[in-house]
Amino acid sequence: MSTIDYNFTSCPDRRGYGSLKWEKYADPEVLPLWVADMDFETAPEIVAALQARLDHGVFGYTIPHAEPIEAVLHYLERAHGYPAKAGWLNFLPGLVPAINLCCHAFTKPNESVMTATPVYPPFLTAPDYAKRELIRVPLCLDASDQWNLDFEAMEAAVRPDTRLFILCSPHNPVGRVFRRDELEALGEFCERHDLILISDEIHCDLIFDAEAEHSVTASLNESIAARTVTLMAPSKTYNLPGLACAFSIIENRELRQQFHQTIRGIITEVNCFGYAGCAAAYNHGEAWRLALLETLRDNYKTLRSFLARELPQIVFRPMQATYLAWLDVRGLKLDQPARFFEQHGVGLSCGEPFGEPEHLRLNFGCPKARLEEGLERMARAMQNR
Ligand SMILES: Cc1ncc(COP(=O)(O)O)c(C=O)c1O
Repeated sequence: MSTIDYNFTSCPDRRGYGSLKWEKYADPEVLPLWVADMDFETAPEIVAALQARLDHGVFGYTIPHAEPIEAVLHYLERAHGYPAKAGWLNFLPGLVPAINLCCHAFTKPNESVMTATPVYPPFLTAPDYAKRELIRVPLCLDASDQWNLDFEAMEAAVRPDTRLFILCSPHNPVGRVFRRDELEALGEFCERHDLILISDEIHCDLIFDAEAEHSVTASLNESIAARTVTLMAPSKTYNLPGLACAFSIIENRELRQQFHQTIRGIITEVNCFGYAGCAAAYNHGEAWRLALLETLRDNYKTLRSFLARELPQIVFRPMQATYLAWLDVRGLKLDQPARFFEQHGVGLSCGEPFGEPEHLRLNFGCPKARLEEGLERMARAMQNR
């Protein structure tokens, strides 16, 4: 199938299907541009595989089996040059439970966990839920307006009781793709302070900047591999979060055992459709993914030029990956920016749970016309204020 056959210009009505994204707002006129869930149908190749699984008619307990295991291993080798082994792999019904369980598995009560903010909210709540202390180190900006890990601040903040660093790579919400040398430096930092590195790479196949390339953290060298827990899923890239299929890769046997002991009896199995969707995404989804990236690149350009032209008080820094734009809205001088835009018909993520109030996150993974409608509403809201 050629890329032009894929539909990125419309999306079926999602109301009435229990969509978290679309059913959040009581007012049906609010256009939801918040949670990381795209308004696109998934790849037809994936729909066909799910249909075939449905046609089988038997939906018993399903264990990890050859099809999804081989699909994931081939994908890691082909797309990221990472020769992972089946024994390192553990399928999971989601990465959020995995992040929480990592805090339990690898730290003791009152020990601390470090992460770089702003960041995906569960990174900030997981340590607290587990009664571990959270050390937040803000990302810093360089002269070219690029977000970086602030190694100086990390050295100053790390403590003898720090056990984990949770990394988002590529980074949600700032959209930064970390270079190899930066990840190596992070590995050295973790080694110096004996930290386990939780590397959440769920956004690694959503890089639309042609100059940027993803490096799987654990693939960089043996020493990093020995202390890294890699978390991945096809769910963001192929818009399958409702299928609940993700996986961890842990090379170090001891860490793997610790993780398994913590999750057993607690975490549910992945269901048969999750496995089928995951295998189909990695085996047959590449043409769709490439077409998606073109759409995201185009939407990103639309967003950038619209904000620069119509809402120049919003600071929107260059990004390389994801469909989640991080907007610094301090210049708008709004008391509650998310609430303000919601009242004017646009549902955005509030920055506070990411660790930065006065910021908003906008999901541009939707048909361009829908994005433009949301942006027009935002501009009108500011004009009529
Ligand atoms: C960095 C990151 N990790 C994990 C998730 C969610 O993972 P899951 O749906 O598998 O729990 C998201 C969703 O947006 C995310 O951005």
